[in-house]
Amino acid sequence: MSPIFSLFLLSSIFTTTATTAYPSVPGAFDPTDCTLSSGDENLIPIRREVYADGRIFDISHRITNDMPSWDKKDGLGQFLWLPSSMKNGSLANNSEMKLPTHTGTHVDAPGHVFDHYFDAGFDVDTLDLEVLNGPALLVDVPRDKNITAEVMEALKIPKGVRRVLFRTLNTDRRLMFKKEFDTSYVGFMKDGAEWLVKNTDIKLVGIDYLSVAAYDDLIPSHLVFLEGREIILVEGLKLDDVQPGIYDVHCLPLRLLGAEGSPIRCILIK
Ligand SMILES: *[C@@H]1O[C@H](CO)[C@@H](O)[C@H](O)[C@H]1NC(C)=O
Ligand SMILES: *[C@@H]1O[C@H](CO)[C@@H](O)[C@H](O)[C@H]1NC(C)=O
Ligand SMILES: *[C@@H]1O[C@H](CO)[C@@H](O)[C@H](O)[C@H]1NC(C)=O
Repeated sequence: MSPIFSLFLLSSIFTTTATTAYPSVPGAFDPTDCTLSSGDENLIPIRREVYADGRIFDISHRITNDMPSWDKKDGLGQFLWLPSSMKNGSLANNSEMKLPTHTGTHVDAPGHVFDHYFDAGFDVDTLDLEVLNGPALLVDVPRDKNITAEVMEALKIPKGVRRVLFRTLNTDRRLMFKKEFDTSYVGFMKDGAEWLVKNTDIKLVGIDYLSVAAYDDLIPSHLVFLEGREIILVEGLKLDDVQPGIYDVHCLPLRLLGAEGSPIRCILIK
């Protein structure tokens, strides 16, 4: 076989694979549509909150410069850089990112508030994926209170429920869409956290602002939740426009060795 012919064969195999299995058109989402058009109408990426005809909800927030960041007035700020870019002659674009591990929708590992757990290595890589994935209850909590023991008791969450996402006034106030960090968000008071630990089987606690603990009980509530190293806290969830009820939740943190927090992608499936 001539070298030219084999080269041709090779490239035709590659072309076929590329157009069928992995359409190489940016923004393409329909694998059955293989029309390779150079028209601009195909270059508009689609960003979605809901997939599969309303069955899959993305409950993670998009990470943006303007999203709120802990204790910051001006939001997260720039978190992405492009040290090598095609515009400047590189073969490909390669971005770098720098951001607090507790940015946006994120998970807390036990090392977050217990230094001896941190030193012992209880990082996000050690979190149980079984807890982070499975049937979950999305509940609305009363809008006029933080989550106290009394509120927890009144919610009457049945025994056996292991994953609960608490939707609060934070969602109504759209706090995760406001740049300025707001200490008046709703979260767990210490007695609410204690009530949950003592009286329920909940192992995954999700909430709709940057902390499950109310600002006034910030460290005490975290200590109560994380001491047993069984409960996983997912914070900064996007719970807008989802009906309360039972779903399958899927949350996957990054395997950041040594990190007590990680951005996390969470979805609900109906
Ligand atoms: C490459 O980076 C430039 C910015 O320098 C950007 O405008 C362009 O869209 C990127 N190209 C691709 C293929 O991602
Ligand atoms: C390209 O290089 C110029 C000059 O070094 C720099 O000012 C510019 O920001 C670079 N652009 C990108 C997209 O990397
Ligand atoms: C919840 O607690 C915070 C302080 O941590 C407070 O500013 C806020 O007003 C409380 N929210 C409600 C609804 O009681």
